[in-house]
Amino acid sequence: MDELRRAGRLAADVTADHLGGVRDRPVWQPVTEADRSWLMRQDLPAAGRPLTDLVHDIRTRVLPYPMGNGHPRFFGWVNSAPSAAGVLVAPIAAALNPSCAGGDHAGVLLEHTVLRWLAELVGFPHRPGGGLLTSGASMATVVALAAARQRAVGRDGADVREEGLYGLPPMVLYVSAEGHSCLRKAAELLGLGSRHVRVVPVDGGFRMDVDALRALVTRDVRAGLRPFCVAASAGTVNTGAVDALDEIADVAAAHGLWFHVDGAYGALGALASGAASAGYAGMARADSLVLDPHKWLGVPVGCGCVLWRDPALARATFSLIPAYLRDDHEDGLGWFSEYGPEQTRPFRALRTWATMSHLGRDGIIRLVGTTVRLAHTLAAMIEAAPDFELLAPVSTSIVAFRCHPVDRDDRLDDLNRRIPAIVQHRGRAFLTGTRLAGAEALRACLLNPATTEDDLVLLLDEIRGAATTATAEIHP
Ligand SMILES: Cc1ncc(COP(=O)(O)O)c(C=O)c1O
Repeated sequence: MDELRRAGRLAADVTADHLGGVRDRPVWQPVTEADRSWLMRQDLPAAGRPLTDLVHDIRTRVLPYPMGNGHPRFFGWVNSAPSAAGVLVAPIAAALNPSCAGGDHAGVLLEHTVLRWLAELVGFPHRPGGGLLTSGASMATVVALAAARQRAVGRDGADVREEGLYGLPPMVLYVSAEGHSCLRKAAELLGLGSRHVRVVPVDGGFRMDVDALRALVTRDVRAGLRPFCVAASAGTVNTGAVDALDEIADVAAAHGLWFHVDGAYGALGALASGAASAGYAGMARADSLVLDPHKWLGVPVGCGCVLWRDPALARATFSLIPAYLRDDHEDGLGWFSEYGPEQTRPFRALRTWATMSHLGRDGIIRLVGTTVRLAHTLAAMIEAAPDFELLAPVSTSIVAFRCHPVDRDDRLDDLNRRIPAIVQHRGRAFLTGTRLAGAEALRACLLNPATTEDDLVLLLDEIRGAATTATAEIHP
């Protein structure tokens, strides 16, 4: 253990140096050919190597090439900086190395607490067994929609686990045009068929058009199809829009649909003050709610979560206990592996527990408040600038906009499509793009409370610099 202790101290210093110096390094930089070759093509050494050598390799070959999240000027996708507490406990979880499939040990017991904390934090009703930590929201969505499918087929007097979907009328899932792609992936994986995923149009604020939802459900019922679930968003990935959850819950109740809410990114927005959180009314009515601790909370990846109203139904969807896994010390809740597809499950709860304990409820509220304020500040800067256009209202901490140079109205799509890669290669900021209402857009996702207003000014300057480069490419 002396070798581990020595190398561990070194690793702790390397980690702290990396995190402490993040602002002074490029947000992202290209991998040199030599390092690319080492990273991709190295041979497995015949003889093992000392632990301190491995730390040295990581310092020189791995740490210089981050994805970029962690830097206060990283605004891409939905990837947060890791919480210090999460980083601290990651090696301890590995040292314990339990499988949180089930059993009577700290990993399992702490997961119950973390699930309760997450539910209480966003005001979701919680009963023991009412959730599961997953690799991320994509897996959480599969788990949630599997339970929805189980209930719907069960209401028709059949058992989807035994019979599959053979011979049943097509089941229809309703997702807004701004719903995340993981919903369609889940529907395909569950055998529902993407043809039976109805894309509900959105209103001017990129929220699900609830009248259109009602009309689609009615039409499908008349056509002999089986509407079974509506998936609303509490924070879309493109603009952070929060659907009219209460109204959608009413539609779901009227038609006996499972009400799913994708709050992977935005569920924590319910903690923002004032109008920003008002839109979340109705989230607590969901049959299943997905929220990702590895997004806004900053728990190191991968840690997603699904919460559900009816733990018994979730268990009935997945429970399968082979003889070798029989548990004679039942506490009534069974094993976590009975509530989802994973058997061996990592100790995700420790990183989440540590992050939440370190911040406390007040700290989490401050984190959300700070990042929401930063998003509004950026939006105000954009509205005040003659060469930018805000493309969507800010409802959480995502700002969707585009560059529109004063002297040019043509080829704006071409221009904005090129900007993110140029900004990324300049290394001083990182943002990504998307398509909104058929047009190319830029989007900045604010998750890092260490971001300052100066960082936002610099972001806009970097975009202007990239736009100059892109314009020269488009109009040589
Ligand atoms: C709204 C939303 N839902 C689902 C997902 C998928 O989450 P994960 O990458 O954890 O699977 C994302 C990812 O960005 C998201 O923003």
